Amino acid sequence: MSRKPFIAGNWKMNLTRAESVALAQGVVNGLGGVSSGVELAICPPFVYLDAVAAVVKGSQVGLGAQNLYFEGNGAFTGEVSAAMLTDIGCRYVIIGHSERRALLGETDSVVFKKTRAALAAGLTPIVCVGETLEQREQGKTSEVVRSQFLGSLGELTAEEAARVVLAYEPVWAIGTGKVATPQQAEEVHADLRQLITSHFGQAIADGMRIQYGGSVKPDNAKELLGQPNIDGALVGGASLKAESFLGIAAAAV
Ligand code: 13P
Repeated sequence: MSRKPFIAGNWKMNLTRAESVALAQGVVNGLGGVSSGVELAICPPFVYLDAVAAVVKGSQVGLGAQNLYFEGNGAFTGEVSAAMLTDIGCRYVIIGHSERRALLGETDSVVFKKTRAALAAGLTPIVCVGETLEQREQGKTSEVVRSQFLGSLGELTAEEAARVVLAYEPVWAIGTGKVATPQQAEEVHADLRQLITSHFGQAIADGMRIQYGGSVKPDNAKELLGQPNIDGALVGGASLKAESFLGIAAAAV
């Protein structure tokens, strides 16, 4: 079964409003070299979503947020709901990024609740899993990512799971320039695909996109994206320049 390649840019906590608008415009203007068969999203900080929404509207580039809160509304100071995100034009939301897991105390059960809330609002969640260097060196990669997957997504219904995008982001490869080799990444993606098959069944496993994230650049994208179980990329640093984000998108067929 063929899965539509999906390249998403996670801008993290970077850029000004003017820079965000200019970057989004640069991406939209440069889509000529990108196949229409590639799904694209950019995920700016919350406060610039509205400004970027106006730029990408009607283009191949979808809008995503980097987080949300699982409650619908109410006394949750500082939080942003799924309905607020759809209201300003978001189609995607990144959930459970390793930076949020490590620095902001996000647990698998919080990731599960956020994923449910995103799905209920009609958003496509991009749910992140990945091991630290220490865990990899201890030979625990499979155990860790399997446990994160089951804790974060295991209780979803099959209908819900069918709408999830998974992102495998080894923590040691994020922002370090140390990209996983295509073989290292493929091994984990294949393992996750097997887990999805045993947990949700063949059809869900065949359909679920699994992005790789961690130091993806235009010059390593082609080989990573060429692996049978790598269906896209979640791009940090290289998504902050239109040229490099578009270079990665162009490598996806
Ligand atoms: P880098 O591409 O900067 O390594 O970041 C990856 C990432 O964390 C995307 O979510």
